[in-house]
Amino acid sequence: MKAVKIGSPATVANLQVVDIADPGQPAAGQIRVRIHANSLNFHDYGVVSGNLPAEPGRIPMADGAGVVEAVGAGVSEFKAGDHVVSCFFPFWENGPPAIADFTTTPGDGIDGYAREAVVLPSHYFTHAPRGYSHAESATLTTAGLTAWRALVVDGQLKAGNTVLVLGTGGVSIFALQIAKAMGASVIATSSSDAKLARLRELGADHTINYRENPEWGKQVRSLTGGRGVDHVIEVGGPGTLPQSITACRIGGHIALIGVLTGRAGPVPTAALMARQQRLQGLIVGSRQDQREMIRALEVTGIKPVIDSTFELAKLADAFAHEESGAHFGKICVAV
Ligand SMILES: NC(=O)c1ccc[n+]([C@@H]2O[C@H](COP(=O)([O-])OP(=O)(O)OC[C@H]3O[C@@H](n4cnc5c(N)ncnc54)[C@H](OP(=O)(O)O)[C@@H]3O)[C@@H](O)[C@H]2O)c1
Repeated sequence: MKAVKIGSPATVANLQVVDIADPGQPAAGQIRVRIHANSLNFHDYGVVSGNLPAEPGRIPMADGAGVVEAVGAGVSEFKAGDHVVSCFFPFWENGPPAIADFTTTPGDGIDGYAREAVVLPSHYFTHAPRGYSHAESATLTTAGLTAWRALVVDGQLKAGNTVLVLGTGGVSIFALQIAKAMGASVIATSSSDAKLARLRELGADHTINYRENPEWGKQVRSLTGGRGVDHVIEVGGPGTLPQSITACRIGGHIALIGVLTGRAGPVPTAALMARQQRLQGLIVGSRQDQREMIRALEVTGIKPVIDSTFELAKLADAFAHEESGAHFGKICVAV
């Protein structure tokens, strides 16, 4: 059975395509899943490039989607033939967050889904949305659920709200789609005018080139009649947070999601306090959040934006593509 493992040292170019033993049949409480697709995230890039510590030989990729081939005794949630998608936090069923690290996250603290089949406890998966391809389902584990939790679970998004999304990565495009489907307006930024045109095709009401306009926070404020947006999908981190605070309304919500500009830096705390904004850190979501998102995707008909799909053996090329920043939406892997 084919798999990809992290080499030593961990670099994108050093990813190893290997043969591993078939995982066999499921024991009680387990399911056997034939994995058909993965999708790439900035987090997976951190693992395969050595920027996040992972054991040598780790099988990467948090996002896996496929078909249940067999179920063990006592499994009632799934049956053979069901289409399923993996969970970022297999041990977080519902309720408030209780996990602040990646020790239980597939593709980081434990082996992930860059392999043809797995046998795991059934709570590592949920059902996939009806009508989704495996690649589409694989985009949900990390990027889709993060956008959903930021806006719907933590943000309590309402029709008529205004949402600011930064850049055209997986999380931001999902947030744009969810916000539009739920009756919000969206302001979207990108470094590329061609990508801004695609954002408008996806329904963005206003777009801003953040490279040409480094003071984009003020522009967002003026696009909202001086009020500011209700929610910011903050994927940039320290390099973008000051502008996000400017862009957000008094009492608004900033979902602190990403570290694209670095892992630490100064925060204009007085402005955050004066504007009385809620800065909410988050990491993905629970299994219950995932099930609720999937029901919403089935009803709204949202389909993930897939930039490109690579074969498993070309996983290093897929990460090189992500590294280039040329992508728009999700990069997927056919297993
Ligand atoms: N907390 C969580 O649960 C969670 C979950 C998923 C992701 N994340 C984090 O969220 C971030 C985005 O993840 P992703 O998977 O969506 O990444 P991605 O798909 O690789 O997104 C990359 C895109 O981000 C945009 N970008 C880069 N620098 C930017 C900047 N300074 N300002 C605005 N946009 C910028 C670029 O868009 P343009 O090319 O259009 O400029 C780039 O194409 C990462 O830091 C990731 O670790 C966190």
